[in-house]
Amino acid sequence: LVTTAESASTASVQELEIARRCPCSPNAQHIEFQQQGRPVKVTLTTLTPDAPVWAVSSHADIRTMLTDMRFSADREKQGFPFQVDGQPGNFRRTMISMDGAEHRDVRRAVTSEFTLKRMKSLQPRIQQIVDGCIDAMLAGPKPVDLVSAFSLPVPSLVICEQLGVPYEGHEFFQTRSHKLLLRGASAEERLRALDELLAFLSDLITKKEAEPTDDLLGRQIVKLREAGTYRHEDLVRMAFLLLVAGHETTANMISLGAMVLIDRPDDAAALRADPRKIPVAVEELLRYFTIAEFIPTRVATEDVELGGSLIKAGDVLVALCNVANRDPVVFPDGNDLDLQRGARHQLAFGFGAHQCLGQNLARMELEIVYSTLLRRIPTLRSAVPTGDLPFKCDADIYGIHEFPVTW
Ligand code: HEM
Repeated sequence: LVTTAESASTASVQELEIARRCPCSPNAQHIEFQQQGRPVKVTLTTLTPDAPVWAVSSHADIRTMLTDMRFSADREKQGFPFQVDGQPGNFRRTMISMDGAEHRDVRRAVTSEFTLKRMKSLQPRIQQIVDGCIDAMLAGPKPVDLVSAFSLPVPSLVICEQLGVPYEGHEFFQTRSHKLLLRGASAEERLRALDELLAFLSDLITKKEAEPTDDLLGRQIVKLREAGTYRHEDLVRMAFLLLVAGHETTANMISLGAMVLIDRPDDAAALRADPRKIPVAVEELLRYFTIAEFIPTRVATEDVELGGSLIKAGDVLVALCNVANRDPVVFPDGNDLDLQRGARHQLAFGFGAHQCLGQNLARMELEIVYSTLLRRIPTLRSAVPTGDLPFKCDADIYGIHEFPVTW
């Protein structure tokens, strides 16, 4: 039996709930959708009016959605969800919104910068950065906000060094990235933040064009010039994507993981005693929090049957990755946080051609961060009950706004 947008519209169609109500559980509506066992037609007021939207919630359907090339990631396509005020084109020409050969070529130009081997070579420097932030924290007053003293600076410093963006600009780009990902910000504010970030990176890249530096952006200029494919605007957008994706995401996972280690002293003790268990714990934390839960969205380019529902050309699909990461078919007792689970096949980094380019970097940062926090600040604790922390129910990437800690 196949459900179409038309037949589904005879039943009451719900507005897709975006805000997470509880830090540790998917939205109840998403759980209900998953129980229906097929993609469910919903509405989404942030979308161009009348574009049919499907909430996709099973692990298997999301994997199909993210690998079937008939579902496009092109944000210029009409009706694409979560555009700033429905204005197409703002994010265009970054790889995340390209399809097919164009996507493959643009991504391929930077994949060598994110291989496991390359990340291993960065390990000592990342450790130094983490230690430096902890030294500064330990030397300062308590309580301290873990987010601004540690969670944000670590991945920001790492991505800045990798790209060749001077860290002195961190406040500028952190505030703009934050605004860009904040749902409460007006379309105008988001657009201004976007334009300011692009202008900042454009100036920086102009300087590098005159004298290419030995960093990701400098190397791209040299490499693409040699290939005869270099375009200033393209590199600005690439830099924008890597800078924003490279720090906000990991920063939020750092805070959430630290909260878990504080709340679960037995788990923390086990990991401290045997740090080889940390990579498995990282995978489970990524699954459990699935912080970028609405990022993978697509538009159908032709009629496609997906998991028992008929998706029509032009319909929009939103992957509910958080609930899919609790899909009982793949993760038994998925609501339990089990740091020894070994959550292979988790979807926190997406799946398919657009699967997170920075995942090796993110994993390495998180492993170094958690092991160093456990070793160097074993008495780390929250200065307020963790249930009272200001969770980011209002942002595109889930996390914690502020996290006062002491030791
Ligand atoms: C793509 C999540 C860290 C760069 C994605 C996607 C997700 C994701 C879900 C897929 C989007 C889609 O299918 O439309 C995360 C999470 C992170 C993280 C949860 C940290 C815990 C990073 C880092 C970087 C990065 C550190 C860069 C340095 C990218 C890029 C893409 C991407 C460039 C687009 C890939 C493509 O379109 O081919 N990320 N990310 N991410 N991520 Fe990440």
